[in-house]
Amino acid sequence: MKNALMKLVYYLAEKGKMIGINRGRLKAMLYPAYRFVCYVFYVMGGGYVYLYHVEMPVTQRCNLRCKHCIFMMPYFKHPADYPVEDLLRYMDKLFDAVDSIQIFRLLGGETFLYKDLNPLIEKALASPKVKTVEVVSNGTIIPPQDTIELMKNPRLIFQISHYGKYSRHAEEIKAICDEAGVKCVVRYPQDKTWSYFGDLHFRGRSDKELRKQLKNCASICRNFLDGRLYFCPRASFGSKLGMPDNPNDFVDLTGDTDRKTLKRQIFELNQRRFIAACNYCDEGTGAVESVPVAEQM
Ligand SMILES: C[S@@+](CC[C@H](N)C(=O)[O-])C[C@H]1O[C@@H](n2cnc3c(N)ncnc32)[C@H](O)[C@@H]1O
Ligand code: SF4
Ligand code: SF4
Repeated sequence: MKNALMKLVYYLAEKGKMIGINRGRLKAMLYPAYRFVCYVFYVMGGGYVYLYHVEMPVTQRCNLRCKHCIFMMPYFKHPADYPVEDLLRYMDKLFDAVDSIQIFRLLGGETFLYKDLNPLIEKALASPKVKTVEVVSNGTIIPPQDTIELMKNPRLIFQISHYGKYSRHAEEIKAICDEAGVKCVVRYPQDKTWSYFGDLHFRGRSDKELRKQLKNCASICRNFLDGRLYFCPRASFGSKLGMPDNPNDFVDLTGDTDRKTLKRQIFELNQRRFIAACNYCDEGTGAVESVPVAEQM
């Protein structure tokens, strides 16, 4: 029974990727179902922890300066790489604690500015708990041949964010991938909708307003930064840029918390009705603005 349910969820989740689960309204509609499935898995599945989407930034460095970058990369004064030994250790901890991750995504900043990407790709692919590994890039850097070889794995999807004239090698990279047999998806500006979630000031919303906000935001994309699994990238990167770093918004995998406790904490994080960061964000409210994709500063 449990296995049949899981198979169904994986099937629907894979289909969801194809129809563009990122579309706002559809995402908001599916969000309660996602939370419910996670609940059923955990409670009836003996503590089984399922995550749909985890993204792990490998660097803050970027060769573009998108004004409305959702990770706020251009606003880091001294952008740095995350040390590979740390990232590998955190991945071990995460893969040990959870039971299944539908999509594990490696990104930046600009992912190919990071020189130690290969061991991270290898580790993600080596985990049977990870269904799909994604690597995302802005189409400015041609991946080295050894990375192309690794990306041939059928469980990996390479996504190029095509930002028009800024993604100067996008077509060439796509051709290299097609030739090599790498599954490569190009997302053109017209396929994307970018929003600006406002600056990082405190909004003073009530709990009721915040619950409604998160229902609309429907964030299913957890951000794994500095060994902490944050509810969303606004919470993780915002906390590095002046927002309070609220322990309610993340699970810390850097310490010696035992596996059972981590599982419970991750499950609970996934079930939050709102997080502290929502009070520093306009996503999910009428105040959120649509903005041009990849406008440079
Ligand atoms: C932060 S980027 C990092 C990877 C790479 N530098 C890139 O641009 O693809 C990850 C994803 O976030 C998307 N993104 C960035 N800012 C956004 C925004 N304001 N609204 C919606 N999506 C955004 C990008 O298009 C990309 O698909
Ligand atoms: S390319 Fe743009 S969206 Fe991607 S990390 Fe750099 S600044 Fe952000
Ligand atoms: S802070 Fe809240 S509203 Fe903003 S993106 Fe994160 S979960 Fe959504």
